[in-house]
Amino acid sequence: MRLPEAGSIQIAPSILSANFARLAEEINVVEAAGLSIVHLDIMDGHFVSNITIGPPVVASIRTCTDLVLDCHLMISDPQRYIPDFVSAGADHITFHVEATDCPGDLIAMIHEAGLTAGVSIRPDTAASALKAWVQDCEMILVMTVQPGFGGQALIPETLEKAAAVRSMVGPEKRIQVDGGIDETTAPLATAQGVDTLVAGSAIFGKSDRAAAIAAIQNAAG
Ligand code: DX5
Ligand code: ZN
Repeated sequence: MRLPEAGSIQIAPSILSANFARLAEEINVVEAAGLSIVHLDIMDGHFVSNITIGPPVVASIRTCTDLVLDCHLMISDPQRYIPDFVSAGADHITFHVEATDCPGDLIAMIHEAGLTAGVSIRPDTAASALKAWVQDCEMILVMTVQPGFGGQALIPETLEKAAAVRSMVGPEKRIQVDGGIDETTAPLATAQGVDTLVAGSAIFGKSDRAAAIAAIQNAAG
Protein backbone atom coordinates (compact mmCIF):
# COMPACT_ATOMS: atom_id res chain seq x y z
CA MET A 1 0.00 0.00 0.00
CA ARG A 2 1.25 3.49 -0.89
CA LEU A 3 0.56 6.86 0.65
CA PRO A 4 -1.92 8.83 -1.48
CA GLU A 5 -0.26 11.54 -3.57
CA ALA A 6 0.18 14.89 -1.83
CA GLY A 7 -2.63 17.39 -2.18
CA SER A 8 -5.77 15.60 -1.06
CA ILE A 9 -6.72 16.00 2.59
CA GLN A 10 -6.34 12.69 4.39
CA ILE A 11 -7.36 11.79 7.92
CA ALA A 12 -5.10 9.23 9.58
CA PRO A 13 -6.79 7.77 12.67
CA SER A 14 -4.38 7.00 15.52
CA ILE A 15 -5.21 3.72 17.23
CA LEU A 16 -3.63 5.00 20.43
CA SER A 17 -7.13 5.89 21.61
CA ALA A 18 -8.74 2.69 20.26
CA ASN A 19 -9.68 -0.42 22.24
CA PHE A 20 -6.51 -2.51 21.89
CA ALA A 21 -8.42 -5.68 22.69
CA ARG A 22 -10.55 -5.11 19.58
CA LEU A 23 -8.05 -3.60 17.17
CA ALA A 24 -9.24 -5.43 14.07
CA GLU A 25 -12.81 -4.19 14.55
CA GLU A 26 -11.62 -0.67 15.33
CA ILE A 27 -9.48 -0.52 12.19
CA ASN A 28 -12.15 -2.09 10.01
CA VAL A 29 -14.57 0.65 11.04
CA VAL A 30 -12.26 3.43 9.84
CA GLU A 31 -11.50 1.46 6.68
CA ALA A 32 -15.23 1.11 5.99
CA ALA A 33 -15.55 4.89 6.44
CA GLY A 34 -13.38 5.24 3.33
CA LEU A 35 -10.10 6.33 4.88
CA SER A 36 -6.76 5.29 3.40
CA ILE A 37 -4.26 5.52 6.26
CA VAL A 38 -4.07 4.22 9.81
CA HIS A 39 -1.52 5.81 12.15
CA LEU A 40 0.36 3.51 14.52
CA ASP A 41 2.16 5.14 17.46
CA ILE A 42 5.26 3.23 18.50
CA MET A 43 6.64 4.33 21.90
CA ASP A 44 9.51 2.84 23.85
CA GLY A 45 9.36 4.41 27.31
CA HIS A 46 12.72 6.05 26.57
CA PHE A 47 12.38 8.59 23.76
CA VAL A 48 8.96 9.28 25.26
CA SER A 49 7.67 8.33 28.69
CA ASN A 50 4.97 5.98 27.43
CA ILE A 51 5.12 2.43 26.04
CA THR A 52 2.77 1.19 23.33
CA ILE A 53 3.20 -1.44 20.64
CA GLY A 54 6.03 -3.02 18.69
CA PRO A 55 6.54 -5.05 15.51
CA PRO A 56 4.47 -8.12 16.52
CA VAL A 57 1.34 -5.99 16.89
CA VAL A 58 2.05 -4.19 13.61
CA ALA A 59 2.38 -7.59 11.91
CA SER A 60 -0.97 -8.68 13.34
CA ILE A 61 -2.62 -5.46 12.18
CA ARG A 62 -1.17 -6.09 8.69
CA THR A 63 -3.20 -9.29 8.46
CA CYS A 64 -6.51 -7.52 9.05
CA THR A 65 -6.37 -4.40 6.88
CA ASP A 66 -5.31 -3.01 3.51
CA LEU A 67 -4.95 0.51 4.89
CA VAL A 68 -1.59 2.24 4.59
CA LEU A 69 0.22 1.43 7.85
CA ASP A 70 1.79 4.73 8.90
CA CYS A 71 4.27 3.89 11.67
CA HIS A 72 5.28 6.85 13.84
CA LEU A 73 8.42 5.78 15.69
CA MET A 74 8.78 7.63 18.97
CA ILE A 75 11.76 5.54 19.94
CA SER A 76 15.45 5.95 20.62
CA ASP A 77 17.89 4.29 18.22
CA PRO A 78 15.32 4.01 15.40
CA GLN A 79 17.83 2.55 12.92
CA ARG A 80 18.06 -0.57 15.06
CA TYR A 81 14.35 -1.29 14.72
CA ILE A 82 13.43 -0.08 11.23
CA PRO A 83 14.08 -3.53 9.69
CA ASP A 84 11.65 -5.11 12.16
CA PHE A 85 8.90 -2.66 11.21
CA VAL A 86 9.60 -3.27 7.53
CA SER A 87 9.26 -7.02 8.08
CA ALA A 88 6.06 -6.44 10.05
CA GLY A 89 4.44 -4.89 6.97
CA ALA A 90 4.72 -1.15 7.57
CA ASP A 91 4.08 0.99 4.48
CA HIS A 92 5.41 4.31 5.76
CA ILE A 93 7.89 4.93 8.57
CA THR A 94 8.39 8.26 10.32
CA PHE A 95 11.22 8.76 12.79
CA HIS A 96 12.17 11.76 14.92
CA VAL A 97 15.19 13.86 13.96
CA GLU A 98 15.84 14.26 17.70
CA ALA A 99 16.41 10.49 17.98
CA THR A 100 19.27 10.06 15.52
CA ASP A 101 22.50 11.63 14.30
CA CYS A 102 22.09 10.23 10.81
CA PRO A 103 18.62 11.02 9.38
CA GLY A 104 19.87 10.64 5.81
CA ASP A 105 20.99 7.05 6.43
CA LEU A 106 17.62 6.18 7.95
CA ILE A 107 15.69 7.70 5.05
CA ALA A 108 17.87 5.67 2.65
CA MET A 109 17.27 2.51 4.70
CA ILE A 110 13.49 3.02 4.57
CA HIS A 111 13.53 3.74 0.83
CA GLU A 112 15.76 0.76 0.04
CA ALA A 113 13.14 -1.41 1.75
CA GLY A 114 10.53 -0.02 -0.67
CA LEU A 115 8.63 2.13 1.84
CA THR A 116 7.96 5.84 1.97
CA ALA A 117 9.79 7.83 4.63
CA GLY A 118 8.99 10.62 7.04
CA VAL A 119 10.86 12.84 9.46
CA SER A 120 9.29 14.46 12.49
CA ILE A 121 9.98 17.19 15.04
CA ARG A 122 8.69 17.67 18.57
CA PRO A 123 7.07 21.01 19.47
CA ASP A 124 10.31 22.28 21.03
CA THR A 125 12.40 21.61 17.89
CA ALA A 126 12.70 24.31 15.23
CA ALA A 127 11.44 23.64 11.71
CA SER A 128 14.95 24.41 10.46
CA ALA A 129 16.12 21.09 11.99
CA LEU A 130 14.19 19.35 9.20
CA LYS A 131 15.43 21.43 6.32
CA ALA A 132 18.25 19.14 5.17
CA TRP A 133 15.95 16.12 5.00
CA VAL A 134 12.52 17.21 3.83
CA GLN A 135 13.21 16.93 0.12
CA ASP A 136 14.15 13.27 0.55
CA CYS A 137 10.92 12.37 2.38
CA GLU A 138 7.40 11.75 1.11
CA MET A 139 5.75 13.12 4.27
CA ILE A 140 6.91 15.45 7.04
CA LEU A 141 5.33 15.22 10.49
CA VAL A 142 5.09 18.33 12.64
CA MET A 143 4.04 17.31 16.15
CA THR A 144 1.32 19.58 17.49
CA VAL A 145 1.57 18.19 21.06
CA GLN A 146 4.45 16.76 23.07
CA PRO A 147 4.72 13.16 21.83
CA GLY A 148 3.73 10.44 24.26
CA PHE A 149 0.03 10.61 24.99
CA GLY A 150 -3.28 11.09 23.26
CA GLY A 151 -5.92 13.57 24.34
CA GLN A 152 -3.71 16.67 24.73
CA ALA A 153 -4.58 20.17 23.48
CA LEU A 154 -2.90 21.36 20.28
CA ILE A 155 -0.07 23.86 20.85
CA PRO A 156 -1.02 26.75 18.51
CA GLU A 157 2.58 27.86 17.74
CA THR A 158 3.30 24.49 16.13
CA LEU A 159 1.01 25.38 13.23
CA GLU A 160 3.39 28.18 12.26
CA LYS A 161 6.07 25.51 11.91
CA ALA A 162 3.79 23.48 9.67
CA ALA A 163 3.41 26.56 7.47
CA ALA A 164 7.19 27.03 7.45
CA VAL A 165 7.67 23.41 6.36
CA ARG A 166 5.08 23.86 3.59
CA SER A 167 7.09 26.83 2.28
CA MET A 168 10.24 24.69 2.34
CA VAL A 169 8.82 21.78 0.36
CA GLY A 170 6.26 23.24 -2.03
CA PRO A 171 3.12 21.30 -2.97
CA GLU A 172 4.68 17.91 -3.75
CA LYS A 173 5.06 16.51 -0.22
CA ARG A 174 2.57 15.50 2.41
CA ILE A 175 2.66 17.52 5.63
CA GLN A 176 1.17 15.77 8.61
CA VAL A 177 0.19 17.09 12.02
CA ASP A 178 -0.37 14.92 15.06
CA GLY A 179 -1.90 15.80 18.39
CA GLY A 180 -5.02 17.68 19.42
CA ILE A 181 -6.64 17.49 15.99
CA ASP A 182 -10.44 17.62 16.00
CA GLU A 183 -13.15 19.39 14.02
CA THR A 184 -12.12 22.74 15.57
CA THR A 185 -8.37 22.51 14.99
CA ALA A 186 -8.37 20.60 11.67
CA PRO A 187 -9.27 23.71 9.61
CA LEU A 188 -6.57 25.72 11.40
CA ALA A 189 -4.03 23.12 10.25
CA THR A 190 -5.24 22.82 6.67
CA ALA A 191 -5.15 26.63 6.41
CA GLN A 192 -1.39 26.35 6.98
CA GLY A 193 -0.90 23.86 4.16
CA VAL A 194 -1.27 20.65 6.15
CA ASP A 195 -2.88 17.83 4.15
CA THR A 196 -2.59 14.86 6.54
CA LEU A 197 -4.41 14.99 9.86
CA VAL A 198 -3.73 12.43 12.58
CA ALA A 199 -6.63 12.14 15.00
CA GLY A 200 -6.84 9.74 17.91
CA SER A 201 -9.24 10.72 20.66
CA ALA A 202 -11.38 12.80 18.27
CA ILE A 203 -12.24 9.54 16.46
CA PHE A 204 -11.76 6.59 18.81
CA GLY A 205 -12.92 8.59 21.81
CA LYS A 206 -16.35 8.91 20.18
CA SER A 207 -18.94 6.16 20.09
CA ASP A 208 -19.83 6.84 16.43
CA ARG A 209 -16.44 6.75 14.68
CA ALA A 210 -17.90 7.27 11.20
CA ALA A 211 -19.72 10.42 12.32
CA ALA A 212 -16.56 11.69 14.03
CA ILE A 213 -14.56 11.18 10.84
CA ALA A 214 -17.20 12.94 8.74
CA ALA A 215 -17.22 15.90 11.15
CA ILE A 216 -13.43 16.33 10.85
CA GLN A 217 -13.57 15.89 7.06
CA ASN A 218 -16.28 18.51 6.71
CA ALA A 219 -14.43 20.96 8.94
CA ALA A 220 -11.05 20.37 7.27
CA GLY A 221 -12.34 21.44 3.87
C1 DX5 B 1 0.96 11.26 20.54
C2 DX5 B 1 0.72 10.44 19.30
C3 DX5 B 1 -0.55 10.77 18.63
C4 DX5 B 1 -1.79 10.61 19.45
C5 DX5 B 1 -2.69 11.74 19.08
O1 DX5 B 1 2.31 11.21 20.87
O2 DX5 B 1 1.77 10.59 18.37
O3 DX5 B 1 -0.66 10.07 17.39
O4 DX5 B 1 -2.47 9.41 19.27
O5 DX5 B 1 -3.78 11.69 19.92
P1 DX5 B 1 -4.91 12.81 19.91
O6 DX5 B 1 -5.46 12.88 18.54
O7 DX5 B 1 -5.87 12.29 20.92
O8 DX5 B 1 -4.24 14.09 20.34
ZN1 ZN C 1 1.57 9.78 16.28
